[in-house]
Amino acid sequence: MAAVFPHRHLVGITELGREDVELLFHRAEAYLPYCRSAVHRLPDLRGKTVVLAFFEPSTRTRVSFELAARRLSADVVSFQALGSSLAKGESLLDTVQTLEALGVDALVIRHHASGVPWLIREHVSYSVINAGDGQHEHPTQALLDGFTLWKHFGRLEGLRVCLVGDVLHSRVARSNIALLRLFGAEVGVCGPLTLIPSCAEQVWGVRVFASLREAVQWADVLNVLRLQRERMESGLIPSLEEYHRWFGVTASVFAWNPTIRILHPGPVNYGVELTADVAASTHAHIRQQVTHGVAVRMAVLSLLLSGGSA
Ligand code: NCD
Repeated sequence: MAAVFPHRHLVGITELGREDVELLFHRAEAYLPYCRSAVHRLPDLRGKTVVLAFFEPSTRTRVSFELAARRLSADVVSFQALGSSLAKGESLLDTVQTLEALGVDALVIRHHASGVPWLIREHVSYSVINAGDGQHEHPTQALLDGFTLWKHFGRLEGLRVCLVGDVLHSRVARSNIALLRLFGAEVGVCGPLTLIPSCAEQVWGVRVFASLREAVQWADVLNVLRLQRERMESGLIPSLEEYHRWFGVTASVFAWNPTIRILHPGPVNYGVELTADVAASTHAHIRQQVTHGVAVRMAVLSLLLSGGSA
């Protein structure tokens, strides 16, 4: 019997089961050969309309959703949300309901307020896809990070993955932790304790490392996070130089663990959380993550919009 994807929305990893993620990975793998070619468009979403509404800056997530939708022959509309007065709750709901009357099939939304995609899906009948809500969830980023590791290691079970840096403000960290735990991976977090939520150990069930060296010696993979200065109150780190000195990922990690693999969701602040030589090294998967992002988002769009049969 064909596997079925039983969801109409993708708002958070916490709503997915392991079989759902495996189905997404297999579909993304099938799409990989097509994700860089504008010549061979697949017909899977012909006749469907996808709206992109980004209320926060974005390069790779927005472009990658747009390419994913186009590679599957969908119509794509970019909604210029940034800087408009739509950031106010009521008018946001007006807008998303207007889209419904225009016959939209899916809304891809990024918003600075945590929970917005959950709110919207209560009021519309089209599919809602979360492209990052506040510091809450970023499910397609976790899927593409997980997919990258699954392709490299052939499994996620038992892998030791450590998220390094600004875990407190990171939706990427929250979604990654949820996904990795679904597969029985071991998860660590490492950073200044002002940037690690106090619930990390008890509620998330992750290991907390205050020393980068210890984290690197423990882990198979580091997923390095950007300092989210736009979400930070002052005083959480003494200075960028000080942060880099203790938690910046430099080539010395290879001496501590010669087989370590490096992920980064981008955008990278070189010289702060990661040095350019590490990003360019054969240990890093950063460019591959970007390519995989298109395939994973093709899989998400097609499974949500094609009624689920695979
Ligand atoms: C992340 C995001 O926006 O949450 N980036 C991304 O989607 N590629 C991480 C970040 O902004 O640091």
